[in-house]
Amino acid sequence: MANFVLKGHICQSLDERHLGIRENHYLVCLENRCAGVYPILPTKYRGLPMTDYGDRLIIPGMTDLHLHAPQFSFRGLGMDMELLDWLNTNTFPEETKYADLDYARTAYSQFVAHLRRSETTRACIFATVHVPATQLLMELMEQSGLVSYVGKVNMNRNAPLYLAEPSTIASVRNTRLWLEETAGKWQRTKPILTPRFIPSCTDDLMYRLADLRAEFDVPVQSHLSENYSEIAWVKELVPTARNYGDAYRKFGLFGGDHRCIMAHCVHSDTLEMEYMRQNGVFIAHSPESNMNLASGVAPIKKFLDYGLKVGLATDVAGGSQESMFRAMTHAIQASKLRWRLQDQSVAPLTFDMVFYLATRGGGAFFGDVGAFDPGYEFDAVVLDDSNLDHPQPLSVRERLERTAYLGDDRNIYAKYVAGTKLF
Ligand code: GUN
Ligand code: FE
Repeated sequence: MANFVLKGHICQSLDERHLGIRENHYLVCLENRCAGVYPILPTKYRGLPMTDYGDRLIIPGMTDLHLHAPQFSFRGLGMDMELLDWLNTNTFPEETKYADLDYARTAYSQFVAHLRRSETTRACIFATVHVPATQLLMELMEQSGLVSYVGKVNMNRNAPLYLAEPSTIASVRNTRLWLEETAGKWQRTKPILTPRFIPSCTDDLMYRLADLRAEFDVPVQSHLSENYSEIAWVKELVPTARNYGDAYRKFGLFGGDHRCIMAHCVHSDTLEMEYMRQNGVFIAHSPESNMNLASGVAPIKKFLDYGLKVGLATDVAGGSQESMFRAMTHAIQASKLRWRLQDQSVAPLTFDMVFYLATRGGGAFFGDVGAFDPGYEFDAVVLDDSNLDHPQPLSVRERLERTAYLGDDRNIYAKYVAGTKLF
């Protein structure tokens, strides 16, 4: 259990609308959790080891609430297509390669190395349908020191024969095998049930997955209301559902008695929002992906005002980069275009709001995570912005805003996850 003190400019989200900045303060970690932020170090902590980060900024670690590890290899490719074409052309052929463990080891090692270097401290990750490669990814994630949920993907229809699981029975059997192998095996890495999306999973598979979910008491992640052609297809596939979210709800895979993340929600209507609120579903807002795949822009300010739980995500490789700072920038830019071009009733996002989404918002999926409140898990990232020249004086807040907006991983100086220093 780590006990230590960091000193620097402490920047964190106070709530959805406000950043809190404490210049030249002490941040105390006791038994891997935050004990407090102080202008003068209390006497009782004076014996602890201290690292003085001087003029650098210290922020909470960021949670990437949705990304695809096997897609990291083709980030930046096929970005002139829409979702369903991109899945068939780029995604499914690449994901097939993870049947080969040697390929998976090379590709996943590259993915994990990048994530470890980034401002992300926690992540909810899709793997592929393959059990051995998913377990390998989980081992690599555990070794990285990051905290994550990783999902073996389920898909037993509407995928090429070379990738789809051949039957419901095979998909359930593989998933059970994987859960038995991985549930409770690691400290930082946990399994999460991952039906890819409704078009990939037959009704009977979804019901069986809900049983497995309850048996192993694991959370759920999937995709929801991302793209017009996808939503129209789901209407055909589950005609009895009142909307896309209601389809998951009927199958018992939409929160309520379990934690659940739905990526995108670009086109969720009021009824779908209501179902998400009632069931405590987390929305993973993936702005770059939603632009790249011509999905649209989710009304995030409206979701926040409605009381929904929202975090931020890169959705690699719908999004081209693993940087949560870039995701924050994209969230602001996308919200402004939405407001200007589509709907003046939903205000654009501010910097304070996207910082909240990237820290407290998504962190809440992991419990007390995403801030330096007493008792919160000690995830911290130290930023060094000394290479960002400026002739004029800048406040600490302005320095944070600029460092994040420019989103360059060379500014990431040190990183702590759950009290452990990674670099
Ligand atoms: N919907 C189903 N699968 C995917 C995927 O891999 N990426 C995105 N963005 N949407 C999906
Ligand atoms: Fe996705």
